[in-house]
Amino acid sequence: MKKMIKAFAIALLLPVTAFAAGGGATYPHDGMSADHGNKSSLQRGARNFVNYCMGCHGASYMRYNRLAADLGIPEDLAVDNLIFRVNEKGEREKVGSLMRTSMTPDFGKQVFGVTPPDLSLIARSRGVDWLYNYLRGFHQDESRPLGFDNSVFKGVGMPHVLWELEGVKKAVYDEAGTHVVGFETVTEGTLSKMEYDSFVYDLVNFLDYLGEPYKADRQRVGVYILIFLFLFGIVAYALKAEYWRDVK
Ligand code: HEC
Repeated sequence: MKKMIKAFAIALLLPVTAFAAGGGATYPHDGMSADHGNKSSLQRGARNFVNYCMGCHGASYMRYNRLAADLGIPEDLAVDNLIFRVNEKGEREKVGSLMRTSMTPDFGKQVFGVTPPDLSLIARSRGVDWLYNYLRGFHQDESRPLGFDNSVFKGVGMPHVLWELEGVKKAVYDEAGTHVVGFETVTEGTLSKMEYDSFVYDLVNFLDYLGEPYKADRQRVGVYILIFLFLFGIVAYALKAEYWRDVK
């Protein structure tokens, strides 16, 4: 029993020590934790996404009304603030429509050399840390056609669409000159560094929600299941002790 308690205590403490090790260099940043319980962050993320990303990227596994319901946005507000796309018939998309982009794949390929991918599952494939670093990783590079490169996605085809908010920055490399470890401001943006980081946090939190909309439910139910297993464990242990009492 003593051993069991010790193992349990270690399991409880592990995440704390892992978190403590997460500090250090300013870029790249590891340890971003998405929080689907933070509805206002997700709402801001949704607003940022439809305003700054949906011109090129779709989220075509999600419908506007599902999004509104999950994020606690009244449907009329969602219609006014989130739906801008006009469909093939020339009508504004309905609240039950999928969140598709207006850019056709061919047009995207022609202009950027690559079709901007659908972002529904991007948080699943790239992970939140990568996305957080990617959206904070655009830096000036005159050798690139668009004048920018990205420190986690070298030779990226996407323009730095948030430059007005973030401003323009130059990369600072490590001693070997291969890895970006920080940035120097060239021109200021309309947001401060902290405001920009939290803008990106909300956006990535939202992308994480898109990748797994039921995560909040899963985590809520998970707590009950763990409590149940713990209580059941006590019962099972007591039963085992009872059965083996005569054998020993
Ligand atoms: C002007 C068009 C445009 C806009 C607006 C735009 N992107 Fe992109 N994005 C692209 C293109 C093109 C690529 C493909 C880049 C490549 O593969 O080289 C891309 C790639 C990406 C990728 C990497 C996908 C991968 O391959 O893993 C992510 C993540 C991404 N965009 C997120 C965003 C987010 C978030 C926004 C909104 C802030 C946004 N994009 C706005 C054009 C755009």
